[in-house]
Amino acid sequence: MEKKLEEIRSILKKYNQEHLLNGYDKLTEEKKQELLKEISEIDFELIHQLYLTTNKQKENNTSEITPMDYLDKYKLGEKYKYYESIGKKAIQEGKLAAVTMAGGQGTRLGYDGPKGTYDIGLDSHKSLFELLCDNLKEEGKKYGVVIPWFIMTSKENNKQTIEFFEKNKFFGYQRNKNLFFFIQGELPMIDTEGKILIGEDGLIKMAADGHGGIYESLVKSGMVEEMKHLGVEWIFIGGVDNCLVKMVDPVLMGIAIDKKVTVACKSVVKANPQEKVGVFCKKNGRPNVIEYSEITEDMAEQCDENGELLYGESHILCNLFNIEAIERMGQNPLPYHIAYKKAKYLDENGELIEPDSPNAYKFEAFLFDAFGEVDDMAVLRVKREEEFAPVKNADSVGVDCPRTARELYKKFYKID
Ligand code: UD1
Repeated sequence: MEKKLEEIRSILKKYNQEHLLNGYDKLTEEKKQELLKEISEIDFELIHQLYLTTNKQKENNTSEITPMDYLDKYKLGEKYKYYESIGKKAIQEGKLAAVTMAGGQGTRLGYDGPKGTYDIGLDSHKSLFELLCDNLKEEGKKYGVVIPWFIMTSKENNKQTIEFFEKNKFFGYQRNKNLFFFIQGELPMIDTEGKILIGEDGLIKMAADGHGGIYESLVKSGMVEEMKHLGVEWIFIGGVDNCLVKMVDPVLMGIAIDKKVTVACKSVVKANPQEKVGVFCKKNGRPNVIEYSEITEDMAEQCDENGELLYGESHILCNLFNIEAIERMGQNPLPYHIAYKKAKYLDENGELIEPDSPNAYKFEAFLFDAFGEVDDMAVLRVKREEEFAPVKNADSVGVDCPRTARELYKKFYKID
C-alpha cells in the first residue's frame, strides 16, 4: 500500500496533480483504496493533451463540407415494398438487435435519475424505458421474434437503472437472455487550470465520456460476442430520450442490405436553421454529422435552389450498423469535444464548492465521428411526427420537453 502510494505520488507530481491526495488521510480505508485505484487508471497524458486543446483557438476548419444525399422513405415508390421485404426477412431471421444509449444524465431536463426512468406524464405514467420497450415488443411480435435489447448505462446510473428494471420485472424481457446491460466509459473533469477535480464523495470527479466510446464498449464488454452468438448481424443504436424512436424498421434495413452499406441512418427535415440537432453532411467526401454546437450560422441557413436547407437532414440518433462496422469503428480513438459545465467539487481545504456558473471541462466523443470510417452510408428521411419526439429540456423551455413529447406521442398513438 505504502509503495503504491509512493508510486502514485510521483505520477501526480509529474503531471502537477498532487492535490488529488489532499483529502486522502481523512478517507475511510475502503475509499482510500478506491481513490488510488481511480488515480492509477487515469491516462494523465491524455488529460494533459485534452487540457491543452481547451486553450486553443478554434482551428480554422479547412475540411470541405458538402451536403449528403438521402432517400425519402415516402418517395421510394415501388422500391418501398422491395426494401421492406428484404428487411422483413432479415428481421424474421433474428438478425436485428437494438441498443439504447442511456448513459447521459438528464441535466437539461432537471431530473435527478437515469433519464430512461423518467415519466413524461402520460396517463399510464410509463417511463421512457417502458415506452421504448413497448414498441420493441410490439414490433418483435409482428415478425415472430424477440428483438434482443442492449442498454448502455454509465457508472453513475448503472445500479439505479438495473434496479429500476428489476422492479419492473424487466418489462417482460429476460436478463442475460435477450436483455443486456453494459457500461460506457468516463473521464475525469478538469478545472480551467487543468487540475482534475475531486467530487463530493472525496473521489475523482468523473463524467460520462460521450457515446463515441460505444463501439469499443460493445466489443470490450463482450456484447458483440453475445450478439454474434444470437445470430445478430445488424444493430440499431438509438438514444433513450426519443419516445417515438422506431428501432425496428424493415425499410431502413432493406436499404442497407440492398445497397451494401454498413451504416444506414434516419433523418428528419430540420424544423428551422436554429434547431438543436446535428445535420448529415460529407466531410472531405466522407459521411459525417456536424453537431448543432459546431455548425456556423451561414452553413445552418444556406438553402438550395428550391429554398430547402442545404444542411437540413437532421441526425436523430437513429442509426443502424452492420456488426462488422461496429467492430471496425471501435479500433481507432475518436476526437473529444469539449463542454464547459457547472460541477460541484471539493477545494484544496476539503470545502464543498457549488458553482453557479460553468467552472469545469468535460470531454465527450460522439458516435457519429466514426461515420467517416465507412466509404458510404445511406440516409433515409422519415416523418418527424412518426419518429421524433425528444425529451431534452424542462417544460419551461417550451421545446423538446416532456409536454411537447407527450403531445407528439399521444397524437401518433391516437390517445385522447
Ligand atoms: C443529440 C445528438 C444530435 C441530435 C440530437 C437529436 C449527440 C452528441 N448529439 O444531441 O446530433 O441531433 O441528439 O435529438 O448525441 N448519451 C449517453 N452517454 C453519453 C452522452 C449521451 O448514453 O455520454 C445518450 C443520452 O442518454 C441520450 C443521447 O445519448 O440518449 C443523446 O445525448 P445528448 O447529450 O442529450 O445529445 P443532444 O445534445 O440532445
